[in-house]
Amino acid sequence: MPVALIVLAAGKGARMQSDLPKVLHKVAGAPLLVHSLRAGAALAPVQTLVVAGHGFAAVREAVLQENPTATVVLQEPQQGTGHAVRLCAPHLQDFSGDVAVLYGDTPFLQPQTLQRLQRARRGHALVVLGFHAQQPQGYGRLVMEGDRLVKIVECADASEAERAITFCNSGVVLADKAVLFALLEDLDCANAQQEYYLTDIAKHAQARGIAITAIACEESETMGVNTRAQLAEAEAAFQAHSRARLMENGVSLVDPATTWLAYDTQIGRDVVIEPNVFFGPKVCIEAGAHIRAFSYLEGCHVGSGARVGPYARLRPQTQVGTGARVGNFVEIKNTELAHGAKVNHLSYVGDAVVGEGANVGAGTITCNYDGVAKHGTHIGAGAFIGSGTMLVAPVKVGDGAMTAGGSTITQDVEHDALAIGRSQQTNKAGFVPRFLAMQRQKTRHQKK
Ligand code: UD1
Ligand code: MG
Repeated sequence: MPVALIVLAAGKGARMQSDLPKVLHKVAGAPLLVHSLRAGAALAPVQTLVVAGHGFAAVREAVLQENPTATVVLQEPQQGTGHAVRLCAPHLQDFSGDVAVLYGDTPFLQPQTLQRLQRARRGHALVVLGFHAQQPQGYGRLVMEGDRLVKIVECADASEAERAITFCNSGVVLADKAVLFALLEDLDCANAQQEYYLTDIAKHAQARGIAITAIACEESETMGVNTRAQLAEAEAAFQAHSRARLMENGVSLVDPATTWLAYDTQIGRDVVIEPNVFFGPKVCIEAGAHIRAFSYLEGCHVGSGARVGPYARLRPQTQVGTGARVGNFVEIKNTELAHGAKVNHLSYVGDAVVGEGANVGAGTITCNYDGVAKHGTHIGAGAFIGSGTMLVAPVKVGDGAMTAGGSTITQDVEHDALAIGRSQQTNKAGFVPRFLAMQRQKTRHQKK
């Protein structure tokens, strides 16, 4: 059965107390909405629609970055979740099949759960995903009679008895398109929030004699983010889950609670991650690499057997080759370090290519920015860059060449050559005692 995916993301999220639309707040480096889109992708939807309203332009941009073929539907004003889904109807005119509705603020749905929802859908025109809540406060309650879902009642509209129900609505619905949109026709806004609630479809299905059901999943998968505190809880839950998954797959986290992962971090077997390491988006670490304490990595690829840190910073578009070394207080950006290359101490290497086995000495800086544009540095295989070298880009140092410590290199160096770019040293014999005596005499004179 083909599936069309609808993600609701138009709400302001007033409880976040933020100028940023709620669905753009991030967990593990990605907006909540992107987590929802990635979760929904497990259904292999033939069409994806996102309903946006608050911060429309920013939400639209985030959606299209994740999925350029998605349709972003404007909901203005926001008259509730039912109203939001209804606005998708014109965009689904040529579609027949199932419609899945996900909320942009419910980021952790697992693919297996969506598959279970699809299985449950075989026997019913519409299936709602629920969960047994520890703290049901704020969630809609699912009123069941056997396996039949007869009503969903929002917390604000619930009676005392209904509030005692702990089986709650996650917001996820999978339904036959025709049935769903027919039920949406029946909605009204006679409720506490005076909105068209999507959840009222349950009561209208009951009235029309259409059997619908709900299945349960783990609460951790359906936690909604409505407040900053819940955002922090979501982050903690995501981290705990990802750390556990990495360890299951053979990654050593020396102190798991201090390894911070992004939504897309990929780490191979037998990688060791020392304490206090932060991964921004788009990092891939190959098997057997070692990431030492207090390192910060984003947008980079680290080859197998490489060693990074302690206190290293790898910025986007960096490739650390197999067996290469990046040491303490080293920043690397948009650079390819070939196999076995070393940048071990106190350096900045940006917009560069460092050849196989090259050694970049302590305190080396690629001067890549002239105030207007960035320029590249090329260091050949087996080259030796002396400590404290300033490589003023664009510049090339050939294979096997050397630069003398403290040099400022402004011209290309041919292979196997030694480049010395520093002023001549002069030694003044016996100067120091004479100089100090002179200074002391001056001070005595001033005191008088
Ligand atoms: C909703 C459900 C509730 C469920 C809970 C799960 C309804 C009426 N209630 O409540 O049963 O337990 O989620 O987290 O559906 N949105 C729009 N347009 C609107 C209103 C909301 O797109 O007009 C979007 C929001 O951006 C958000 C999602 O729909 O991503 C849910 O809205 P929210 O206001 O968070 O609903 P809850 O009160 O959490
Ligand atoms: Mg919510």
